[in-house]
Amino acid sequence: MAEVPLYLAPLAGYTDQAFRRLCKDWQADYLVSEMVSADGIVRNQPNTMCYAEFSEYERPFFIQIFGFDPLIMAKAAEKLLPLKPDFIDINMGCPVKKVVKRGSGSALMKDPERASIMVKEVKRAISGACKLSVKFRSGWDMNSLNFLDFGLEMEESGADIICLHSRTTSQMFSGKSNWDHIRILKEKLSIPLIGNGDIDSPESAKAMLDQTGCDGLMIGRGALGKPWLFSQIKEYLKTGAYQPATRQMILEGANTHINYALEYKNELKVVREMRSQLSHYAKGIPGSKSFRERLNRCESADEIRKLLSSWLIF
Ligand SMILES: Cc1cc2nc3c(=O)[nH]c(=O)nc-3n(C[C@H](O)[C@H](O)[C@H](O)COP(=O)(O)O)c2cc1C
Repeated sequence: MAEVPLYLAPLAGYTDQAFRRLCKDWQADYLVSEMVSADGIVRNQPNTMCYAEFSEYERPFFIQIFGFDPLIMAKAAEKLLPLKPDFIDINMGCPVKKVVKRGSGSALMKDPERASIMVKEVKRAISGACKLSVKFRSGWDMNSLNFLDFGLEMEESGADIICLHSRTTSQMFSGKSNWDHIRILKEKLSIPLIGNGDIDSPESAKAMLDQTGCDGLMIGRGALGKPWLFSQIKEYLKTGAYQPATRQMILEGANTHINYALEYKNELKVVREMRSQLSHYAKGIPGSKSFRERLNRCESADEIRKLLSSWLIF
């Protein structure tokens, strides 16, 4: 099977520079920033720009922006160009209430005209300095599955690449994603299509490829606590087998995650964030409940390291 590119999905609150770097170490081909507010960029809000920053090691890199006003989105894209992203990605899939109530994220799927103008304006603003991608869902709900028309319209408006998370907005993140939607859009689209939704193992990655014929696979929650999933998928697609994660790998992965995080954030913040990040490494391992309880009481990175060793090594 020809090698298919693997993308780490944007996961606000998780896919910061430390986690992205870890996934890159484990062969993720493309990385995406967490979603960045176009308003915040245009208003020079200091807490916004940091979400767009990335290192050379993370290339090829997508900066994802969200917003309602096509002209503000275009200005934001222009302001990001000095960072030299490889792609600007427009978020048209976020279902979170405070985003959609302002007409941003997946609310744009209910207003394809605005979405199309947005793509044209952002494309004009970046004027060939990087490529443009759009990430969206299957539709607002089961009665408005407009992914096909919407995708074709985004292509027509100037998107260079599309990512479809095949769930509706009303599904949020529950239920199953419907990979038939990815197959149907792939059959009609001329630009590359990245499939997204529920890839959590090498087997499910292959199943999505077989079922949809998509050009790339995007993995989100499946990579949490399992940054090696990218390497496992590559190995499985090439050979039909893969190396399962060992306790040693989990210990090393979690420790590297902490070390990377400490390079970007202060210890207090890292200790707080590791409570959610590391609970994903613990999933499925006997004793994970008491590990999580003890993790929540740790007050330093060293304490967390000791806890990890005592738990994972008998
Ligand atoms: C905690 C969390 C944060 C997310 N943040 C973003 C985001 O910033 N931008 C975006 O386009 N999608 C975001 N998503 C959606 C994911 O990128 C992805 O489309 C979705 O989780 C389905 O893929 P998965 O089944 O591989 O996780 C987020 C999802 C979760 C669970």
